[in-house]
Amino acid sequence: MASDATPPPIDQMAATTLKDDGPESLALWAQFSDRVLIRSIVCRSDGGAGLAGQKVRVGGWVKTGREQGKGSFAFLELNDGSCLANLQVIVDKDVSSLEQLVQTGTCIYVQGELKKPPEGTKQKVELRVEKVIDVGLVDPSKYPLPKTKLTLEFLRDLVHLRPRTNTISAVARIRNDLAYATHTFFQKHGFLYVHTPIITTSDCEGAGEMFQVTTLFSDSDKLEKELKENPPPAESEIEAAKLLVKEKGDIVSQLKSAKASKEEISTAVSELTRAKDSLASLEERSKFKPGLPQRDGKIDYSRDFFARQAFLTVSGQLQVEGFVCALSSVYTFGPTFRAEHSHTSRHLAEFWMVEPEMAFADLKDNMNCAEAYVRFLCQWLLDNCLDDMEFMVKNFDKTAIDRLKMVASTPFERISYTEAVQRLENVTDKKFENKVEWGIDLASEHERYLTEVIFKKPVIVYNYPKEIKAFYMRLNDDMKTVAAMDVLVPKVGELIGGSQREERYEVIEKRILDMGLPLEPYDWYLDLRRYGPVKHCGFGLGFERMVLFATGIDNIRDVIPFPRYPGRADL
Ligand code: 4AD
Ligand code: MG
Repeated sequence: MASDATPPPIDQMAATTLKDDGPESLALWAQFSDRVLIRSIVCRSDGGAGLAGQKVRVGGWVKTGREQGKGSFAFLELNDGSCLANLQVIVDKDVSSLEQLVQTGTCIYVQGELKKPPEGTKQKVELRVEKVIDVGLVDPSKYPLPKTKLTLEFLRDLVHLRPRTNTISAVARIRNDLAYATHTFFQKHGFLYVHTPIITTSDCEGAGEMFQVTTLFSDSDKLEKELKENPPPAESEIEAAKLLVKEKGDIVSQLKSAKASKEEISTAVSELTRAKDSLASLEERSKFKPGLPQRDGKIDYSRDFFARQAFLTVSGQLQVEGFVCALSSVYTFGPTFRAEHSHTSRHLAEFWMVEPEMAFADLKDNMNCAEAYVRFLCQWLLDNCLDDMEFMVKNFDKTAIDRLKMVASTPFERISYTEAVQRLENVTDKKFENKVEWGIDLASEHERYLTEVIFKKPVIVYNYPKEIKAFYMRLNDDMKTVAAMDVLVPKVGELIGGSQREERYEVIEKRILDMGLPLEPYDWYLDLRRYGPVKHCGFGLGFERMVLFATGIDNIRDVIPFPRYPGRADL
């Protein structure tokens, strides 16, 4: 199959299961593109040695290249993003001119034979190129990613090119694996994936941190432009049109009283209709005013796209609750948006959240699920992403792999909010910036102290004061706390926030009102308590926080492909 450099037949592609590494004796052709992935050569247990003698086609971008033997051949380090490692490629000058191929960033698509390199070299296999099929040139004097090490901060100005760096591509693969592991975990446990809306008219967290979705501004810009090109009618034009309507009306009356012919009357009537239409349209246009539509001194949202105010969602939870009250174990995994002006290394304006929701389950089940899920993610990375994780250890955080191992194998500490506050009040070796007392919302410094210093492992804090948590969390019997839980992990602090939900109609209605929120937008949500309410719970895991935790990267802006934060939304 692979020995004559041809891909497998389509039947075989359709039948091959994902992540199947195939028989070790053959080079594995990529599915749906005519080449062999570099991963399936260099990441084999024998480093690719067993493939020597086989003919393959590969494609990728040159990481580094150098001409050797007085320009008689070139060594290229080729990467196609399928793994961290590069394939060493050797091209003779008889095959292609070398000058362009050796430039960092050049894209090449080549065919050749895999060979065992001479004894003593670090590679287990290299590719001797027989034919250069295609080249994507790069102008080295202009290419913005030189070989020198670039800071992550610098790369944020090049979000479209930064995937070509080792760091951002390793993060992308780790992120991909965490997403794959997420679906695997929930599917394995019988949860259904539900797509909740991105545009919403309910504020889930009740915190008023939502981005508004409106076409009023662009509509108003369009109108302003239109009015400039085609100004509204002057008062005199309207008066003239009114006069014309009157005249035409008079003619119709005269003809009628003079018992004129049917034909004459109907011609006059249609002229009258035309005059009326033209007056109506002039009057309509005269009402057009530049600026936003107003009613009673406020913006008139009935003229907006959705005929009401709409926003980007801060969480899919409320809507997924509609599904949990029917399908009983569900999750949503999608983008969420928060217009908080936080310039921290843990906050984004657009981030992804994984939100499972379980019926017939209480706070304890919720904690069990959160713990099992996070530990599953850690074990998954150890099993599937070790190369990329080793890169992170070498370049960013020496403890990244140990942290994954620890979390995968250690039961989480579980303490109530009250106990957490007591523990923090007794701390003598550190002065917190924010004073600790019962009732405060724990700050990041407190959360990190609990998980990093006191317990040295993930901690689940539960039963928070009701005043600092969202309206949907279930009120405990003490009437002071709610059945909330936050999962805190070293390096990041809060990774997960969740709760048992308030399923009692009267209680939740009162909580909405007590929090100063309007009832009307939540009326549909109250229906879930009116009709067949069920004990249920759920949580949200901040996906980028999980990537931060796993990789040990310091800033959340470097673990999402296209970061959005105050002042920045490139591309
Ligand atoms: O604690 P939060 O606000 O919880 C909710 O939104 C619930 N409705 C979830 C649920 O119960 N279904 O957010 C959940 C998690 C946080 O623990 C944090 O990891 C992450 O989302 N998060 C952010 N991540 C990045 N940037 C931000 N601005 C974030 N805000 C929250
Ligand atoms: Mg939270």
